[in-house]
Amino acid sequence: MAGLSLQTLFFIGLQVLGRVACLEEVSDQRCNCYLTNETSTDYFTTHSFFDFRALAQYAKVPSPIADPYDSSDADETSDYFLKEDWANVWGIQSWNNSDSVDSGDVPVLLVNSPNNIYIQENTDENPSSQTFLTMRTIRYRGYQSAAEFESISKAYHFLSVRMYARTFGAPGAVTAMFTYRDDGNGTDLTTVQESDLEIRTQDPKDKVQYTNQPSYNAAGYDIPQSTRNVTTPIQADWTQWSIHRMDWTPKDTTWYIDGNKVASIAFQVPRDPSQVIFNAWSDGGEWSGNMTVGSEAYMQIQWIEMVYNSTGDEKTTDKRDDGTIRSLWNVKRAEEGCQNICSIDKTPTIGTPVLLQSAASRMSDHVLGFGVAYVWIPLLLATFLI
Ligand SMILES: *[C@@H]1O[C@H](CO)[C@@H](O)[C@H](O)[C@H]1NC(C)=O
Ligand SMILES: *[C@@H]1O[C@H](CO)[C@@H](O)[C@H](O)[C@H]1NC(C)=O
Ligand SMILES: *[C@@H]1O[C@H](CO)[C@@H](O)[C@H](O)[C@H]1NC(C)=O
Ligand SMILES: *[C@@H]1O[C@H](CO)[C@@H](O)[C@H](O)[C@H]1NC(C)=O
Ligand SMILES: *[C@@H]1O[C@H](CO)[C@@H](O)[C@H](O)[C@H]1NC(C)=O
Ligand SMILES: *[C@@H]1O[C@H](CO)[C@@H](O)[C@H](O)[C@H]1NC(C)=O
Repeated sequence: MAGLSLQTLFFIGLQVLGRVACLEEVSDQRCNCYLTNETSTDYFTTHSFFDFRALAQYAKVPSPIADPYDSSDADETSDYFLKEDWANVWGIQSWNNSDSVDSGDVPVLLVNSPNNIYIQENTDENPSSQTFLTMRTIRYRGYQSAAEFESISKAYHFLSVRMYARTFGAPGAVTAMFTYRDDGNGTDLTTVQESDLEIRTQDPKDKVQYTNQPSYNAAGYDIPQSTRNVTTPIQADWTQWSIHRMDWTPKDTTWYIDGNKVASIAFQVPRDPSQVIFNAWSDGGEWSGNMTVGSEAYMQIQWIEMVYNSTGDEKTTDKRDDGTIRSLWNVKRAEEGCQNICSIDKTPTIGTPVLLQSAASRMSDHVLGFGVAYVWIPLLLATFLI
């Protein structure tokens, strides 16, 4: 008899405790802003999530295209990349570096190809997803076939961007996730603002490079304060699936691997609205090195998640972009104030935010207090019963 009521009391107690401890998963419509660190005041107005983990209907590894012109002109590799969810945000690139080759700055022609960005089946042993997105770079005799997608909006103004990704393949390639802005014509180093995560496939597998560009000056001298050569946490070398995170704030850029802070650079932190870019490439230069003819390297991504602010100044490259609407919406939300505060870190479900604090909960804190009392009363009673 006493045992039963004890169990019941504990059960009620645990249920209430559960409700107090678990944060509610909500849709983005419920969130006015997102905090990435509860002890910091940097918050962001918008959240986006790109999930490549369950796209079996689009999975297909396209045959490489040897001709550089055909490679550049190639179509998207699946309808996934034509859907608005992707195409309104990301632009798959087909530009090449022939200008830099002609001027003698780099030795190898790099041609970006839509054919090198595709959804692939995950055939890992005990796969952690059905599919992922692959970015491929291949060395041909005459040129390097590469992969790049850029945000269509150039108006990201501070963000926290994360990807669950890995890199592998032949030495001589670079894979990267970065912010970018260039107010000049590409030749004046000082006009570049850029925060980088770069992996060089010629480097040891536990070394990752983080930089607030430029990393060298016009005279060719390194700027050591701008860059960090970081050793990855154990078990998180760049061939392993890891969450690579970059937080760009007005104060500094900070990088994390699987939640561990690995570098932070305040020097030359980008100031102005920027693009977000992902790529896999080589140009035979000092930084990337050369890939052996016929070899390949890859960056594979299961998902990309961002919380960010964006300015209303319509610095976009494409009329398809809905940046204007998005920006106005942001301004409106900012005016409403940060009523419901959400987190993308404290959620049990990647991509779905949880409510940290709602305007309603702040007003009824005493109700929450009562809830906690509810846990302790039965526990206290239970103690007396024993
Ligand atoms: C949160 O921000 C505080 C203050 O800026 C900082 O000291 C701390 O390292 C941050 N925590 C994380 C997990 O980033
Ligand atoms: C993002 O925008 C909101 C609303 O304008 C602002 O209060 C907040 O400080 C901004 N966050 C950063 C990191 O600048
Ligand atoms: C490289 O770009 C230039 C300039 O846009 C263009 O004329 C040329 O055809 C491109 N080459 C290839 C291989 O796509
Ligand atoms: C680019 O800018 C630099 C420095 O402002 C200038 O010297 C150079 O002539 C420009 N090049 C082109 C192609 O406009
Ligand atoms: C980082 O340091 C390692 C040695 O610890 C070196 O092998 C690697 O080339 C360095 N990477 C860069 C980009 O300097
Ligand atoms: C890459 O190979 C080219 C010749 O194709 C050469 O000019 C260049 O110096 C090489 N790059 C490096 C970093 O060795």
